[in-house]
Amino acid sequence: MKRLGILLSGRGSNLAAIAESIAQGRLRAEIAVVIGNRASAPGLEIARSLNLRAVAMPSQGIDREEYDARLAGELQASHVDLVCLAGYMRLLSGGFIRAFPQRILNIHPSLLPAFPGLDAQRQAFDHGVKIAGCTVHFVDERLDAGPIVRQASIEVQGHDTRETLASRILDQEHRIYSEAIQFVLDGNFEMDGRRVVCKSL
Ligand code: GAR
Repeated sequence: MKRLGILLSGRGSNLAAIAESIAQGRLRAEIAVVIGNRASAPGLEIARSLNLRAVAMPSQGIDREEYDARLAGELQASHVDLVCLAGYMRLLSGGFIRAFPQRILNIHPSLLPAFPGLDAQRQAFDHGVKIAGCTVHFVDERLDAGPIVRQASIEVQGHDTRETLASRILDQEHRIYSEAIQFVLDGNFEMDGRRVVCKSL
């Protein structure tokens, strides 16, 4: 069984959705460890309630290289095959990324390359886009910029608020993250430049 390491900073709804996909047999993997860089992250509580190994590893005030080396050590000790960022709100160092080549995924609440960075749903809403969505991508050393694995789009409705839009995007996140993880674990793809191309069957 392929082993996932989940990194988070906050709420943990994507972690819960991944765990649910596994429980329902839609995702053939197991969660080896959940690491939170904030001890108070509600996502760690969710991990504990699901009897997952939950590790609080506060990052505040710690040098990035040093912290990321500890993070990589914890993930390697847990023998993870794939690292999944699920609301992990901290940039990863080059050293960390090189330790897990093409084995780090992130979910971002916009149709990248539009609206990278913080508060992507608010950025999209305030910009007045008619189509919004979310993206699962490989992580490289740039912010929200690595090769795209999967996207989902939704139409912005006239009655949407920032909150309803964010909530509808989140529903799509919960659906496509597990699909993208399974796709990457299956390994039936090749890279063409930065394009992730499904291999023919
Ligand atoms: C999600 O909307 C995720 O896409 C976003 O943080 C939220 C975490 O929610 N991530 C980013 O913005 C990364 N740039 P969750 O803790 O409930 O999964």
